[in-house]
Amino acid sequence: KRIAIFASGSGSNAQKIMEYFKYSEDAEIAIVLSNNADAYVIQRADNFEIPVHVFDRNEFFKSDEIVKMLKNLNIDLIVLAGFLWLVPNNLLQAFPNKIINIHPALLPKYGGKGMYGDHVHKAVLANKETEHGITIHFANEHFDEGEVIYQGRFKVEPHDTLEVIKFKGQQLEHQQYPKVIDNLLKKM
Ligand code: GRF
Repeated sequence: KRIAIFASGSGSNAQKIMEYFKYSEDAEIAIVLSNNADAYVIQRADNFEIPVHVFDRNEFFKSDEIVKMLKNLNIDLIVLAGFLWLVPNNLLQAFPNKIINIHPALLPKYGGKGMYGDHVHKAVLANKETEHGITIHFANEHFDEGEVIYQGRFKVEPHDTLEVIKFKGQQLEHQQYPKVIDNLLKKM
């Protein structure tokens, strides 16, 4: 099975996924794609000798180049890992139920446009939530919607800072995203 990862930034989740599948006989990361030429995820992909494709808005939203590229590469699953752009319809239609995303909150809470990164965790603390977590879900034409595949939760203690809850969420993401991908691929 062949995986494409889309990421816009650091790529710590992409790193864990690339590590997990490095010696797999069932699946491989065929390509990493980014809308950001400065994203650290590109360095990480280079370290695994995984090809990288950087694209701009026109290529992503106004052409079929990416769809063609992914079809030519025989991609089975598209994994969004800290990818900040909405997936356009041509891509959704070309890969139905084959595009997944990870979000650092218990959706449908704390999702949608503008709800990413620290914005999420700040809102969670401001609302004095006692529970927080992560969601892995199929991508659709809206931000952070689509069928939920997996949710992981943890307690927010009264003294927890933004850094603490962010770290707890990242640990959970890093542990779970590769496994969820592996399970999905096995069912395909
Ligand atoms: C993760 O928290 C993920 O849930 C969100 O963006 C973050 C990406 O972090 N969609 P990284 O680039 O994988 O380090």
